[in-house]
Amino acid sequence: MSTEFIHMAELVEAAIAVRTHSYSPYSGYSVGAAVLDEKGRIHSGTNVENAAYPDGVCAETAAIAAMIAGGGRRIEAVAVAGPEGEPCTPCGGCRQRIREFAAPETPILICDPDGARARFTLTDLLPASFGPGNLSSS
Ligand code: THU
Repeated sequence: MSTEFIHMAELVEAAIAVRTHSYSPYSGYSVGAAVLDEKGRIHSGTNVENAAYPDGVCAETAAIAAMIAGGGRRIEAVAVAGPEGEPCTPCGGCRQRIREFAAPETPILICDPDGARARFTLTDLLPASFGPGNLSSS
C-alpha cells in the first residue's frame, strides 16, 4: 500500500474521530477536520460554538490553527467529516483559510461517520482564488 494512501486513510480517521469532541450545542451539527502537513504530520480540529453565535469556530479553522501551532506551514491534504446525509463541504471562509497554506491541486476529502464520500481539489472548491501571491506581485 502506498504511503500516500495510508496518509489519506489516517487523515479520514482523524477527522471522523475528532468530530466526536465537537462543541456544537446551538446547531447540533458536529464537524471534524484534519490536515496533513509538509512533514507528514496530521493536525485535527473540531467546531467550537459559542452562546454569542458569530464567535464560533469551524473545524477546518481549528485544524489549521493546530497545524500552525505545531510548526507546520503547508497543507498537503484535508479531510472534513460531517454527519450522514448532505456532504459537509467547507464553508467559504474555511476554503480561503485552506488556500493560504495549500496548492491548487491539494485534495479535500469529504467524509461522513463511515468514511470518505467525495474528493475535490482546492481549485474545485475555490476557483480563481486570491492568495499570498497576489500581494507579492504588487
Ligand atoms: N461548520 C464547520 O465546522 N465547518 C464547515 O465547513 C461548515 C460548518 C460548523 C460551524 C457551525 O458550528 C456548524 O458547523 C453549523 O454551521
